[in-house]
Amino acid sequence: MLEIDKFSKIIAANWKMNGSIKFIDNFLSQLDLINNHNEFVCTIICPPFIYLQYISKKLDNLYLGGQDCSLFQEESCTGDISALMLNDIGCQFCIVGHSERRTKFSETDDQVAIKVSNSLKSNIHPIVCVGETLAQKKNNQTKEVLSKQIMKSIPKNSNNNNTIIAYEPIWAIGTGLTPSIDEIKDIHNFIKNEIHDYKNFKILYGGSVKSTNSKEILNIDSVDGVLVGGASLDIKEFNKILSS
Ligand code: PGA
Repeated sequence: MLEIDKFSKIIAANWKMNGSIKFIDNFLSQLDLINNHNEFVCTIICPPFIYLQYISKKLDNLYLGGQDCSLFQEESCTGDISALMLNDIGCQFCIVGHSERRTKFSETDDQVAIKVSNSLKSNIHPIVCVGETLAQKKNNQTKEVLSKQIMKSIPKNSNNNNTIIAYEPIWAIGTGLTPSIDEIKDIHNFIKNEIHDYKNFKILYGGSVKSTNSKEILNIDSVDGVLVGGASLDIKEFNKILSS
């Protein structure tokens, strides 16, 4: 596995269910890793499963991630992709428990914890997503919700060198809305210092990250990187985020 600790910044692209061979060829031909590449910056592309291997054969200095993995490892499970398979084709990371999986596929914290464990057993670094809804935020339940999600979704064998946390407020995903810089700082500090001992865990912020706000967000001490959805599909935007 990688030494997550050595990275000063992690920029992960979550393409969701987007992309095509043509899109990838165009994206990779313009991706500015030459200017932006630095051994302490970890750039991760998480395309749909089906394109992982195609991308892995095209570029070396880029890390790859799945967007999910199966609850099972080696079992009859039609349609699923296991963490072992992700490792087999050269992935180093896997997004686990994204809010779209939690809401559209009713994934529970317990299931997320199993996927995190499967990833770790398969030498894949899980990126565990947590975040509150707008209603929970308005009811001042954000910290309570995050504590519960994190305690239940992150198993005992996770540590700061094998697991990454992504704080993604659900109301900020794909909406153009973001918490204020002070709110992001407050939540990241809360996760690092007050839930349990997550002080040294890398915590990414995700939710409407764009080139216009990435620098300010990445400048927050307790933010170790960003998880970028929509803006990672626009190569010009993504290059700007990489250089921020
Ligand atoms: P967004 O998505 O950047 O489009 O808000 C982030 C995510 O869902 O990971």
